[in-house]
This record gives sequence, C-alpha cells and structure tokens, in this order.
Amino acid sequence: MIYVTRRVEFSASHYYHNPNLSPEENRSIFGKCNNPHGHGHNYTLEVTVAGEVDPVTGMVMDLKDLKKLLEQEVLQLMDHRFLNKEVPAFASTIPTTENIAVEIWRLLAPKLVFGKLHRIRLYETPDLFVDYYGD
Ligand code: NI
Repeated sequence: MIYVTRRVEFSASHYYHNPNLSPEENRSIFGKCNNPHGHGHNYTLEVTVAGEVDPVTGMVMDLKDLKKLLEQEVLQLMDHRFLNKEVPAFASTIPTTENIAVEIWRLLAPKLVFGKLHRIRLYETPDLFVDYYGD
C-alpha cells in the first residue's frame, strides 16, 4: 500500500453557535468565535489516497484528477464562502475544523475511482490541524 497526498488551500468564514444553548452559554463556550458576523481563516487541506501502484501507469491515481475533484467537490462549495450560511451541511452543524474535515470526507470518499480515501488533514492555522480517517 502506498499513500499519495494532494494539498490545496481555501479561505472561508464561519462562526460557532449551538441553537440548543442559551446566548450566555454560547458566549461562554465559544467566546469570540460566537460573533454572528463571523471571522475568516485560510485553510490548508491535505487529502491522502491509499492504493496500490498501477503497473501500467506507475501511479495510484493521477494527482491531476485528484486536484480536479477537490476543486469540484470542495473548493466550489467552500472557498470564499460563509460556511454557516452558504454550505447546506453547516446550516445545522457547527463548522468547526473537525466538522469541516468530516464533511470533506463525506463529499470525496464516494467520488474516488482509484485507491481509497485514507485521511483528511485540515489546517485552520499553520499550527492547528485535525486528522480524520473516516470512522
Ligand atoms: Ni474560527
């Protein structure tokens, strides 16, 4: 098994709010992130696909195809968007780094033709990231 990774960047804004909590609880848990006007991040996304090397092509999958898939499935949906208001999945789910990673997995996993999705790594800042392995 070999692992290939593609990295892309996107920018998005969000805020953290749980409608089942009181305004005071929301402010206490989420602090500045609870401001409904939102704030932005420059996210770095790393998508890792696991597979065997095809003896004909010498590749697990064509990484140009992976880039195209990321543009179609993730960047078109999330880049330069207010995640809470413009991405349907985050109308009812708080767009934390964790939940964004899970949503990206959900979008990409069924679309891979070669290899299988191994890991979503999403950086919210250069020194903060989450890893998701699909379970
Ligand atoms: Ni934030």
